Amino acid sequence: MIIESVLTTMDARGAINFAPMGVEWGEEEIVIKPFLETTTFRNLEATRVAVVNLTDDVMVFAQGAIANVQFPAIPAAVVRGVVLEAACSWREVEVRALDATPPRARIVTRVVHRGVRREFLGFNRARHAVLEAAILATRTHLLPADEIGAEFARLQVIVDKTAGPREREAMAVLTDYVRAAREAAHA
Ligand SMILES: Cc1cc2nc3c(=O)[nH]c(=O)nc-3n(C[C@H](O)[C@H](O)[C@H](O)COP(=O)(O)O)c2cc1C
Repeated sequence: MIIESVLTTMDARGAINFAPMGVEWGEEEIVIKPFLETTTFRNLEATRVAVVNLTDDVMVFAQGAIANVQFPAIPAAVVRGVVLEAACSWREVEVRALDATPPRARIVTRVVHRGVRREFLGFNRARHAVLEAAILATRTHLLPADEIGAEFARLQVIVDKTAGPREREAMAVLTDYVRAAREAAHA
């Protein structure tokens, strides 16, 4: 099963990177599949550790997908890295095997520590809708603008029905981003 996480990694000099990534979930092993051009891949190759953060705050997914943002974080317990302050729970992992076959690496990691910060609430349709919108926002260079526009319209209906203020705001951030990308493509 793929679980949508926010990965925190560090480069050799200690610069922190945050990136939403879907990971193959296991209790003892987690498989991370970053594209080779991502900072996450370069950091994992260089420092061989990461923190897999699980959060219900979809703003982190929205902003993390479209920009290089530094979110509030606290030191990890075991690995050299950080835990997202907005995490409900997290896993600290070490690289076991790294296959860098293009375009997407397959990195098998071992869980060396797990922690909990707060409760993860139940399913919310708007949160899932924002997650889908965040993924679409990372594909503006691959998908036709009309297709993205139609999907956003469908997802917005779910947000309007079931969101709280945070989800509404996250959806607005992504809508502005895809609109700007579309206008830039037409210019
Ligand atoms: C929910 C979600 C899941 C994602 N999963 C992956 C993934 O598994 N691998 C990947 O390379 N990018 C994935 N992305 C896209 C990355 O987050 C995006 O390319 C990001 O800019 C990479 O950041 P980095 O270069 O700072 O590592 C995902 C995005 C979202 C919103």
